[in-house]
Amino acid sequence: MESHKQPHLKIEKEKAQKFIKYIKKNFKGLSILTNKFKTIKQEDFILFPLNNELPDYEKVKDQLNAHLNCEIINTKAIANSDYKPRSLEKALDKKIPQNLMKFIPKSFDIIGDIAIVELNQFDNIERTDNIKELIAQAIITVNKNIKTVYEKISEIEGTLRLRDLEHLAGKNRTETIHKENNCKFKLDVKKTFFSPRLNYERQRVSHSNIKTGEKIVDMFSGVGPFSIQIAKINVVKIYAFDINPIAIKYLQENINMNKLQGVISPFNKNIRTLLNPTNSLANSLKHNIDRIIMNLPKTSLSFMDVVSYLSKKEGTTIHNYQICSKPESIRKAIKNLEEKFGSFELKLEGIKHARIVKSYSPKEDMISIDAFIKNTLSDY
Ligand SMILES: C[S@@+](CC[C@H](N)C(=O)[O-])C[C@H]1O[C@@H](n2cnc3c(N)ncnc32)[C@H](O)[C@@H]1O
Repeated sequence: MESHKQPHLKIEKEKAQKFIKYIKKNFKGLSILTNKFKTIKQEDFILFPLNNELPDYEKVKDQLNAHLNCEIINTKAIANSDYKPRSLEKALDKKIPQNLMKFIPKSFDIIGDIAIVELNQFDNIERTDNIKELIAQAIITVNKNIKTVYEKISEIEGTLRLRDLEHLAGKNRTETIHKENNCKFKLDVKKTFFSPRLNYERQRVSHSNIKTGEKIVDMFSGVGPFSIQIAKINVVKIYAFDINPIAIKYLQENINMNKLQGVISPFNKNIRTLLNPTNSLANSLKHNIDRIIMNLPKTSLSFMDVVSYLSKKEGTTIHNYQICSKPESIRKAIKNLEEKFGSFELKLEGIKHARIVKSYSPKEDMISIDAFIKNTLSDY
């Protein structure tokens, strides 16, 4: 870099201000100067490093010459150690083959200071050298808040809904603190489930006309993003269940870390244990719950027996998540619910909301439905 030659615009000191004004006025939005290199001060002159990567650089050069009557010289450039490329493409320019540039990810998940990227598009390319590591390093260079990059190497799988990750760059540390809707979440990206893409859902549900004093069950709480955001702004009592002990450990920390209006009781239990009649907690919750969050989209419908156990004859709101095939995924999700309600003596009073949260796979959507149901069981 030391011996790199770069075109510089050499201008008398007194005319430097005029030059800056001229480029601001006449080349709006164009990066005429590059901040990869430092401006050089000589006795009576200033040398501004020009951006010769501009597509119409030759035209720009002619225009500068014509209007400022200045000299453009090719001289040794001084690297600017503070320079940070603004895009991944810029950061990777000349580092990876041009024909692979199109595979650079356009987006990735950011959880706290950790980026989680999908790079399997490079798996079938013959000579990848250390391309994945270079991309990961470029992600850190371009995004000042990212300290670590992991690659997704499996789908989200199993009862605990976790995925395998491979460390690519930065500190090899899976614990982080994620900020969302005015709340903080400590979590481990490898050992607990967390999706920043449900941000809007959490905000929507926590603002959905929740009444003071409501009793709520978060059936699959994870580290608590729904429970915490609801309890942050509502005076309610939440019973949060998760089968993953590590998720419940973080939920407890998150309860302590966020100033909550409501009260959350975390339970490291399979939600099904509520159906055990010897369970005293279960007895206190039976047909006594105003609101139920069912954020386990793949299998939420198989827990309708628990919903039936918890829901009240006066009515209970459920926030249900499902994965349904395209097209007409919303209609299918509502139909699935109606069929399940029928088998558990639950009467659907109304659908308050239904939307596609995101495309889950090329053939499936993730759906959210808010429904108001009444328990019509005769045994209470
Ligand atoms: C899709 S994650 C959702 C977590 C959380 N609601 C969120 O938005 O981040 C589902 C969670 O359900 C938990 N889980 C799976 N089966 C369960 C069960 N039978 N009882 C309680 N928790 C369960 C998993 O450990 C996982 O943390």
